[in-house]
Amino acid sequence: MAANDRNAVLTRVGKGTPMGKYMRFFWHAITPDVNLRDEPMRVRLLGEDLVLYRETGGKLGLVPERCPHRGASLACGMVEKDGLVCAYHGWKFDLTGQCVDTPAEPADSKLKERIKIASYPVQELGGLIWAYLGELPAPLLPRYEYLVGEEFDRDVGISVMPCNWLQIAENNMDPYHVEHLHFRYTNYIHAKLGKPLIKARKHAKVDYEVFEHGIIKRRLWVGDSEDSDEWKIGHPQIWPGHAVITYPGGWIQSQIRVPVDDTNTLIYWYNARPRKAGAAPAKRIRVWENPLRDTRGQYLTDNLNGQDLMVMYTQGDISDRSTENLGQSDRGVALYRRCLHEQLERIERGEDPMGVVRDPALNEPFIKLPLERHVDYDLSGVQASPDHGWDDLEKDAAE
Ligand code: FES
Ligand SMILES: [Fe+2]
Repeated sequence: MAANDRNAVLTRVGKGTPMGKYMRFFWHAITPDVNLRDEPMRVRLLGEDLVLYRETGGKLGLVPERCPHRGASLACGMVEKDGLVCAYHGWKFDLTGQCVDTPAEPADSKLKERIKIASYPVQELGGLIWAYLGELPAPLLPRYEYLVGEEFDRDVGISVMPCNWLQIAENNMDPYHVEHLHFRYTNYIHAKLGKPLIKARKHAKVDYEVFEHGIIKRRLWVGDSEDSDEWKIGHPQIWPGHAVITYPGGWIQSQIRVPVDDTNTLIYWYNARPRKAGAAPAKRIRVWENPLRDTRGQYLTDNLNGQDLMVMYTQGDISDRSTENLGQSDRGVALYRRCLHEQLERIERGEDPMGVVRDPALNEPFIKLPLERHVDYDLSGVQASPDHGWDDLEKDAAE
């Protein structure tokens, strides 16, 4: 297959495309639950325009946005205790998508009986609402440790990225960028800003291992022993393309990437922070914005997330992989692409791709991923994310 064709296969996520089929085997986070208020909410996922709503009784519904009558947006509709009502002529849909009322029609009209729209499974877990757009029966929503562990309080930063999902997911299969983008480049920026320089480290070696939930990435820093958690255990990129990493201090971050369509992606910087001894559990997940640019249109280059967003976005709306020149240090990226092609072959054979969970015994009480518990690099001199979220959270944690 030509490089351009291979690139199209891995990047396009619309219905009926190979990667679109693959992505529809997975549950995707569509919003933090605290962001869904009383009103219907417009959601775009895998190129489909949808409306998420919570009936006044609490149940969640997810349906296509376009009303099947004459096309008004159901996101402008009314939520009732037993369904979603179109604002235009009052057609009402229940959670299954069945039309149950067409009030402008004569009382004896049977029209509503033959009107049924799609409705998609939706679940809440870990403070996020997750949707499944694939064929039924839906697999289980994976209960990863950081989503369900009772010892954590949670916050999530959200980046709205105007580029394809794959160049975002590839970032974590590329350990060497940490040395350059996060250490060397940070010091370049810090020198300009007059901020203290941070301690840079170098990789002695890296390694990868494919396992059922994803690809484990291991790194050995120069000067560390092979007994270090980062080499012995490492951390995974889980299918279809979410990083799970440990930060100094022991908190777990999952970078959840959700393809909105071919050229837009949501990143959830989902943090599960071990609660301080004796502290009361937080009542809800905290949500903050992690923008690509500041209010002057500049990239946010003095924090780790901002640096990542800059290099992900500047590869183009869909990175042209036919013009790349890969080296040894891109071994992880090449492995990830190869694995994705293998998953597409599995689907063609009628099999589930790796990472699809259907056995409740594997999912309960939770899925514990291989994950280093102790990482040994000093990030005290560089921020993980922009000020407006991070400082608040640190203050909260201290209170
Ligand atoms: S367009 Fe929705 S009820 Fe008419
Ligand atoms: Fe990074």
